[in-house]
Amino acid sequence: MLKGKNIILGICGSIACYKSAILTRLLIKAGANVKVVMTKDATHFIGPLTLSTLSKNPVYTEYFNSTTGEWNNHVDLALWANYIVIAPASANTMAKFANGLCDNILTAVYLSAKCPIFLAPAMDLDMWKHPSTQANIQKLLSYGNSIIQPGHGELASGLVGEGRMAEPEEIFHFLQSQTESGLPLKGKKALVTAGPTYEAIDPVRFIGNHSSGKMGFAIAEELQRQGAEVHLVTGPTSLKVSNKWINRRDVVSAQEMLSEVERIFPECDITVMSAAVADYKPKQVAENKIKKDEQEFNIELVKTTDILSSLGRTKKEGQVLVGFALETNNERENALKKLEKKNLDFIVLNSLNDKGAGFQSDTNKITIIDKYQTEETFDLKSKEEVAKDICSKILAFIK
Ligand code: CTP
Repeated sequence: MLKGKNIILGICGSIACYKSAILTRLLIKAGANVKVVMTKDATHFIGPLTLSTLSKNPVYTEYFNSTTGEWNNHVDLALWANYIVIAPASANTMAKFANGLCDNILTAVYLSAKCPIFLAPAMDLDMWKHPSTQANIQKLLSYGNSIIQPGHGELASGLVGEGRMAEPEEIFHFLQSQTESGLPLKGKKALVTAGPTYEAIDPVRFIGNHSSGKMGFAIAEELQRQGAEVHLVTGPTSLKVSNKWINRRDVVSAQEMLSEVERIFPECDITVMSAAVADYKPKQVAENKIKKDEQEFNIELVKTTDILSSLGRTKKEGQVLVGFALETNNERENALKKLEKKNLDFIVLNSLNDKGAGFQSDTNKITIIDKYQTEETFDLKSKEEVAKDICSKILAFIK
């Protein structure tokens, strides 16, 4: 949706300037028209040539271009823009914006603009925390600007704390999520579960499974890309979510997953249970590590709550509920039983007999069967592509 949009990228002096080059590339790749406006200090950190090459446009650093003798009209520039992004936004420039100062081309563009403005601050932690900076931020917010919160981490000063500019990908996702009102799932809330659950046997051991969480994470990303507000509840996994606009909650056991899911589900328009929830858990969890004293050792197991079934029972009209079935035999028959028993809108069937499908791999091969018994089998694809197929099916069910 950023395709064809005119974006001014304002750059202030900060070591985070190197990230502006990556952001420019992301915007250009998304099909946006980008014009870069820099403060003089920014040009000490990154050369305008890098940004003009990446943006395919001249870079503006002054009101007056001494080489061509042309006047860089800040008003025309500001009115050309559909969005203005200031990344990095320094404490100094934000103070100027907040107080209407206008002593360079960037501040002049800001004051002349009528479009939405996004600021990604970058500074040292004490500068960020300073009451003056925070008061300026409040002022800028009250004028309708959006702040892309800085992250926590090591800063150029060597100190560790808040103030580091958001990563280019985060800024890009933020822009997308704020500007893509035309997306099909805008205004919809989605819940996705992913990964395995671990059921404790004693303080060091558990019952688990090989689920990597990749399929669920890919679905969460795709739903967010389509505009939904996404809540991802995941069991233990090493996967990271680069998309800051996905609300992630980490859980360990089936019981914890149940509690989180039950809390979020009532408000959700879409729920996709792709987690490989343990079906059984130890009846007793040993308080201390179990010693290998016995020749034989039995663990008594009890069923966990079937989360999906309980959602199916409470599901309201208009809520779309999707389940998964991983089968090794009688695949279609088993999937159909689950579809009906759990009151699903559709079920995504994986067969472990298909090469490249199921746990751990980066690919999957699925069949979708819906409540009207319409059935579609897809080719082996990357999990990202499979997520797109699942989301297309969700769109067909959404009211
Ligand atoms: N599921 C769940 N809660 C559980 C177990 C599974 O919500 N305690 C969900 C999974 O997230 C998945 C679907 O139910 O969407 C899988 O159905 P299920 O009947 O549990 O399949 P299997 O675990 O393979 O069970 P079975 O051994 O009966 O085939």
